[in-house]
Amino acid sequence: MESHIQIFDTTLRDGEQTPGVNFSFDERLKIAKQLEKWGVDVLEAGFPASSTGSFKSVQAISKALTTTAVCGLARCKKSDIDAVYEATKDAVKPVVHVFIATSPIHLKHKLKMTQEEVLASIKEHVTYAKQFFDVVQFSPEDASRTDMAFLIQSVQTAVDAGASIINIPDTVGYSYPIEYGQIFKSLIENVKSEHDVVYSAHCHDDLGMAVANSLAAIENGAKRIEGTVNGIGERAGNTALEELALALYVRRDHYGIESNLVLSETKNTSDLISRYAGIRVPRNKAIVGQNAFSHESGIHQDGVLKNPETYEIMTPQLVGIRQNELPLGKLSGKHAFAEKLKTLGYDIAPEEQVELFKQFKAVADKKKSVSDRDIHAIIQGSEHEQNAIYQLETLQLQFVSNGLQSAVVVIKDKDGRVYQDSSIGTGSIVAIYNAVDRIFKKESKLIDYRIDSVTEGTDAQAEVHVELVIEGQPVNGIGIDHDILQASCKAYVEAHAKYAAETTEKEGN
Ligand code: KIV
Ligand code: ZN
Repeated sequence: MESHIQIFDTTLRDGEQTPGVNFSFDERLKIAKQLEKWGVDVLEAGFPASSTGSFKSVQAISKALTTTAVCGLARCKKSDIDAVYEATKDAVKPVVHVFIATSPIHLKHKLKMTQEEVLASIKEHVTYAKQFFDVVQFSPEDASRTDMAFLIQSVQTAVDAGASIINIPDTVGYSYPIEYGQIFKSLIENVKSEHDVVYSAHCHDDLGMAVANSLAAIENGAKRIEGTVNGIGERAGNTALEELALALYVRRDHYGIESNLVLSETKNTSDLISRYAGIRVPRNKAIVGQNAFSHESGIHQDGVLKNPETYEIMTPQLVGIRQNELPLGKLSGKHAFAEKLKTLGYDIAPEEQVELFKQFKAVADKKKSVSDRDIHAIIQGSEHEQNAIYQLETLQLQFVSNGLQSAVVVIKDKDGRVYQDSSIGTGSIVAIYNAVDRIFKKESKLIDYRIDSVTEGTDAQAEVHVELVIEGQPVNGIGIDHDILQASCKAYVEAHAKYAAETTEKEGN
């Protein structure tokens, strides 16, 4: 009898398939550590055979995590399984996730294989993987559009070959709760096994039913749920794990089983992914959206003041949202700053706090009150600058004529080499971006540019997100600064730097 619903997090694999999202090596490692703190049971760290970058991240994550199982994805190919083995061999609990499509449309148009060939491939590759791994997970891709009899045969073949986790992907987000739940019921009734088999749900959100489908799977015997933080992922994304975990917790009267997630780390986890992915969660997003615990109507406010339970089915504290935060100001000293870092969950060595404190003072000089969100932004900005391969040194702008601007951009790389160039453009941003393109000697297409303010008020810091396409590949960048133009330039430099790093990685492949 399972005591809890296992959480399989695929933010770093399926989540990173979100268009425009590409985490850097350092970001992947930080995310993995936060996911371990959040309490996920298994972390799918990547697809090692797909790139040197993915391989190295899976390897580093396997070495860094101390309790969480680390999984790598593999097609039905021995070289993919070998890559997962090499990348995860230092993990406390290594897991391989082998998949092949089983639906008629995938067999005919993508794989060009017969059902017999698919069954033979499942048998061969799960058997092969079982030689190296205690835990082999098998997924029949596009399971929800697979004929039930063939799905049972595929799963039976994988189980007979040694798979102990069977994951059922609703790859295209097509299923609905009753139908998806029924698939689990039929498999559990029909597939025979001499060893324990855990059934797992993997849903996509194309019709907005990923969480509901996952819950239906639980009602029909699934003991593991796959998903991502904030529901990021391919197209409309995956099951949002924070929503699923809170549904199980708040409605434990109905489900009778919960996850082992540390719910109070939910908001921190969501914020981290949102920052690194460059995707702000919508204000009205369940659990972690800015409005999820706000009450606007007078009747609601009155009720909540009398008793929060009138309109709140859970407290913001439950998911780690701190309310009534005590803002710092320009008179706050080192001690108050250090205390604030601790309260916000940062564990930063005193010598590293010296530079952060200087940055805090600079912000406090410009703003009356420095909120928790400002502090997060200072730390994020500083992490970015420490990890950055290139840093913005100076930016100068001059009005030329007829609305044309000229920009001179100077950047420095990690080894202290300085690069500079200038350009003109039809506005400040265009001039800056042309100059940066010239420095990196790459033409790029800006496909998204967004400014968010870190807090309310005209004195807020600006957070700029850009998404560019360089040589056909989407990359994103973030820049934070009090000055919008500096923030815009930093974001653009970061995106170019990420592209340059990835190309170097691929060349070394
Ligand atoms: O959605 C899907 O089918 C997948 C598989 C690789 C499990 O992500
Ligand atoms: Zn998927």
